[in-house]
Amino acid sequence: MKIIGTGSALPALTVTNDDLAGFLDTNDQWITTRTGIQERHLLSTEDLYDLAVDASIKAIKAAGLRPDQIDFLLVSNVANRHVTPGLSCIVQKRIGLTCAGLDINVACAGFVNALMLADGMMKAGRAKNILVLCAEEPTKYCDWHERDCSVLFGDGAGAVVLTEGNAFKDVQLTMISDRDVLYYERGMETTPFEQHYIKGQPLVMKGKELFKTAVSESAKDIQTILKRANLTHEDITYFMLHQANKRIIEGIRKIVGGPEEKYPTVIEKYGNTSSASIPILLDEMLADNKIKAGDKIVMSAFGAGFVSAACLWEWEF
Ligand code: ACO
Repeated sequence: MKIIGTGSALPALTVTNDDLAGFLDTNDQWITTRTGIQERHLLSTEDLYDLAVDASIKAIKAAGLRPDQIDFLLVSNVANRHVTPGLSCIVQKRIGLTCAGLDINVACAGFVNALMLADGMMKAGRAKNILVLCAEEPTKYCDWHERDCSVLFGDGAGAVVLTEGNAFKDVQLTMISDRDVLYYERGMETTPFEQHYIKGQPLVMKGKELFKTAVSESAKDIQTILKRANLTHEDITYFMLHQANKRIIEGIRKIVGGPEEKYPTVIEKYGNTSSASIPILLDEMLADNKIKAGDKIVMSAFGAGFVSAACLWEWEF
């Protein structure tokens, strides 16, 4: 499997840390030093479906394909206003696709999990060209009266077109069932028999715990991948990590090794866009010609669950 096209889409509205300090008890210095985030893009006039369609069309175009040449659509999304139908169904027609698709929710690790599924489908001969789309609006799960979660997130979509090739080398998935570290509960309808009705509540996060688990599990996944491939950090051109927090990325780098330049970031501009963060980063790096054939790239993502996932590429165009 290899990636032959990427695309991304961000909402038009940019919100700076100072903008947030206008209505929350926070400040630019705290947010920047604790997270690395300077600004983020938030949905206002457009909706998530617009971003999803935009990123997908760009990726298909970059791949030099027509939408009807895509054989399968894999969508990673944590939540949007529709519980059903799935996001893949909602956007399929607008992208111009005729193929089937499905949605996965593996929180911020969704992109790497989707790559694993795409690789399996391709190896089984079920699809040749697969569109993986990550579209997320995490700002819609936050309580905007509180400063603990709302300052961390941004909305966005990233997409890649995959086809047969030999670039995708390995993948490692990890799941540790621990709901309480990070969760968002949507309210559901009640029935006359319901004994445990829950109204739903915005994102709850145990920040410090999450921080430590994210660093240790991501580093473990990466080291596992490197060991299986008989590589060291010196062999890797880039570690493209989930853009959750610059300090988390720095914590992983300290364990895995290598200079800061090998750990590219876009979190300064976009905040944490959940599973969309790696495909958005990838799209920008390709646009800036920062990736060349033969580069060895490790991707590692982690999030609510607790889940984490890492994969290894040897880049082919
Ligand atoms: N603005 C200003 N001050 C704040 C804010 C804020 N937004 N939030 C907390 N504070 C204050 C606290 O009240 C506390 O004040 P005190 O010392 O007077 O009590 C102080 O700042 C320190 O608070 P901590 O919670 O201890 O701050 P910490 O250094 O742990 O940083 C953070 C908090 C940034 C959330 C950190 O724990 C973290 O990065 N955790 C991981 C979170 C994450 O990445 N989530 C992403 C979602 S999941 C994913 O994508 C994997």
